Amino acid sequence: MRRELDVILDDVIDRHKRNRVENEYGGGRRLGNSEFGSEDLVDVFLRVQEKGQLEFPIDNDNIKAVLYDIFTAGTETSSSTIDWTMVELLRHPQVMTKTQAEVRQALKGNSVEQTNMVYSMKYLKLVIKETMRLHPPVPIVLRACKEEQVINGYTIPLGKKVLVNIWAMHRDPRYWKDPEKFKSERFENQSLDFVDGDCHFLPFGAGKRMCPGITFGLATVEFALSQLLYNFDWKLPEDVRGEDLDMTENVGLTVVRKHNLFVDVTPYN
Ligand code: HEM
Repeated sequence: MRRELDVILDDVIDRHKRNRVENEYGGGRRLGNSEFGSEDLVDVFLRVQEKGQLEFPIDNDNIKAVLYDIFTAGTETSSSTIDWTMVELLRHPQVMTKTQAEVRQALKGNSVEQTNMVYSMKYLKLVIKETMRLHPPVPIVLRACKEEQVINGYTIPLGKKVLVNIWAMHRDPRYWKDPEKFKSERFENQSLDFVDGDCHFLPFGAGKRMCPGITFGLATVEFALSQLLYNFDWKLPEDVRGEDLDMTENVGLTVVRKHNLFVDVTPYN
């Protein structure tokens, strides 16, 4: 698998290099490989590599490692957050209406590329947080003890692995009022944040090994959701009630819905 992946990633880098050379010597119609003709992530890496200005120069293996990380750690986590958020919005039509009103107000008259508009959508952020509380894409994180520790009367031997059950903490009635209910407003409380917040809300983990893709992941999720909510009206099929939706989760490293979600979609004028 590793060798097969290497071939794919080498090819991605080679194609980017060829395209950069063609751009420079072949009329230069496009500046980079991205959809909008600007640089994409690999172009940026190659530029930094060529200029060699970093204290620690990057080689192709470094670029491949980052791309590999993005594919393994950054794709299903983000897509399942988008999916769960849509499900919760469909189950709670009033929340859908409020979120959509905010998104449409913010994006009115702005082009797709004006992504910074997304950052002003405060209610959407609360909805995403509440979705990640009920459906943390990574439900369990792993830690190992560097030295023997006694926690709450339990001895954790050196080197033993400990599983931290984030999913259970996110629904623990000792920390959350009405834990099973979807209530975005609970996140108006500033201490419930992803970084340096209360330790019972950890969708991105915590400490040294916390998710390094948090900013990128959240931007992806907010951007995709705002486009879906801006451009389309969503509702469940006539014969399906929100409370009857099957919310079964699949077992895996990331928790996705077991069954596909079927919806009625109408383009927004
Ligand atoms: C909504 C999206 C995402 C969620 C919910 C998420 C969640 C997590 C969680 C819970 C961990 C384990 C943290 C810990 O052990 O304390 C993790 C690790 C990691 N994530 Fe993310 N992640 C997301 C997006 C991304 C993206 C977009 C990238 C890269 C572009 C990424 C890269 C990584 C990497 C490399 C690790 C391992 C870090 C380490 O062990 O040192 N993640 N993520």
